[in-house]
Amino acid sequence: MTKLAVVYHSGYGHTHEQAKAVAAGAASVRGVEAELLRIESASQDFAPMLAKLEKADAIVFGSPTYMGSASAAFKAFAEASSKPWMNQKWRNKIAGGFTNSGSQGGDKDSTLMQLFVLAAQHGMMWVSLGLMPGNNSTKGSVEDFNRLGASIGAAAQSPVDAGPELGPSPSDKKTAEHLGRRVAETAKQWNAALVDA
Ligand SMILES: Cc1cc2nc3c(=O)[nH]c(=O)nc-3n(C[C@H](O)[C@H](O)[C@H](O)COP(=O)(O)O)c2cc1C
Repeated sequence: MTKLAVVYHSGYGHTHEQAKAVAAGAASVRGVEAELLRIESASQDFAPMLAKLEKADAIVFGSPTYMGSASAAFKAFAEASSKPWMNQKWRNKIAGGFTNSGSQGGDKDSTLMQLFVLAAQHGMMWVSLGLMPGNNSTKGSVEDFNRLGASIGAAAQSPVDAGPELGPSPSDKKTAEHLGRRVAETAKQWNAALVDA
């Protein structure tokens, strides 16, 4: 069984919806089990979470975009991961990332880059979103797959005056599911290749 963990923060529940979609996409791949690991606060004890992540074959990182970057709680997790980093415990695990914010743009790329750099510091193998941009022509619509046109990872947008039942949109959740599936398929193939080697 290939194990995929989705480790994420969500202050108000919107990014939680995106994380669930990533996990559902991953779990749709035969032979892959997906686990949601929600970061509750910057001051929590990260040791149990880090112990679980050491056993995962793939880790998908997720954070809301707050002030143009990953949230403080996510950053606390990232800094706590300096412990496994010391011994490169996550080296060669498969990685991916996602973010959600209030604006269509909202400086989400800055957050995705932070997630990518975190994975790179750990020596992980980053999986891009792998979708063409949607909603970028006269025929486009907000219902398109990858309507926000991201490529580093999955992007979602949620209205700031509504709860998680109204955002992320169905198209953003579909895009998140795609990322989960893609990371899971990559991890499964990577594991099979390691067994053969
Ligand atoms: C402290 C704070 C900073 C924010 N900064 C941004 C931002 O830089 N760009 C943006 O588009 N939205 C920003 N937002 C809006 C959130 O990204 C948006 O409400 C998101 O859906 C929250 O996700 P969550 O419910 O998972 O916490 C910010 C919200 C908060 C609370």
